[in-house]
Amino acid sequence: MRKQVVLVTGVNGEIGHSLVAHLAENDNCDVIGLDVMPIDDSIQQYLFKFIQGDILDQMLLGRLVAEYEIRSIIHLASILSTKAEYNPETAHRVNVEGTLNLLRLAVEQATWQGKSVKFIYPSSIAAYGIPSLEIKQQLGPVTEDQWLMPTTIYGCNKLYCEHLGRYYSNFYKQLAADQTKYTIDFRGLRFPGLISAVTVPTGGTSDYGPDMLHHAAQNIPYACFVRPDSVMPFMVMPDAVKSILLLEEIERNQLSQLVYNVTSFSASAEKLKEITLDAFPNAEISFAVDQKRQHIVDTWPAEIDDKAARKDWNWKPDFDMIQSFKEYIIPGVKNRYN
Ligand code: SER
Repeated sequence: MRKQVVLVTGVNGEIGHSLVAHLAENDNCDVIGLDVMPIDDSIQQYLFKFIQGDILDQMLLGRLVAEYEIRSIIHLASILSTKAEYNPETAHRVNVEGTLNLLRLAVEQATWQGKSVKFIYPSSIAAYGIPSLEIKQQLGPVTEDQWLMPTTIYGCNKLYCEHLGRYYSNFYKQLAADQTKYTIDFRGLRFPGLISAVTVPTGGTSDYGPDMLHHAAQNIPYACFVRPDSVMPFMVMPDAVKSILLLEEIERNQLSQLVYNVTSFSASAEKLKEITLDAFPNAEISFAVDQKRQHIVDTWPAEIDDKAARKDWNWKPDFDMIQSFKEYIIPGVKNRYN
């Protein structure tokens, strides 16, 4: 008998860090963590096994199929939006080919197991692309099927991988005589900017939110790279983890779509500064706009509509804006740096 496990890729990253602790606490399944970098000591205790390796390494993934019975794949490994712009082709390989390799692994597992394998995929607000700031400012909350014209390679990768998830779930090898009956059960989440109190993001465009707070907590001056009036939606990490766990758990027949928006609050950079200064009155926060990164944020919706998730799987964030800062971020960052 092979061991039943949940496979988490990119386990060292921001989401992985918080997710594995909860998976280990709440789930009766062992967690296999995969990452290109050596395991971070603080999460080692939550993993049944850590494998250092690349999602582009098909031999490595093949060995996983042979050794474990994978119930779910939570595929977090990705190159984020700003970093991806410096090398779009590499980003494409990691974000798309890497995902394709894992989808193939999931199908192979499903065939062995005689049942679908769940594939949880964090997509992003970057899948959207609003053509102008004027239009952005007039829009209300944007639903899953609107304004899907991403302008970053990361956004294109995320949107395409959502489509791959749909293809692998419903149409995989549709013309083959031996079309496989069991494929994957794809469940995508479009996240807004995420803020963690315990880790700092690298390579994202929403990083100005968390960066401002982590700098303030360490008494380091921070120059925000977007205009004070830039608005985008955010959510704190415990809510991101909650949404992954909820979506992984729910029965397939409750779900009316494959990809869901989830969000908590929308805030301008000015508002983030104000709240940060309330908690850290000596913080030095200025604005030095990087026009190019600004443009990316200007193409992302100010608000996203998560009604479908609320209706289908009772999604609701635990933290609104005030609670996010008062109960999670401020105490969390103070604790981290003291
Ligand atoms: N936080 C991500 C980024 O900025 C968006 O998914 O790239």
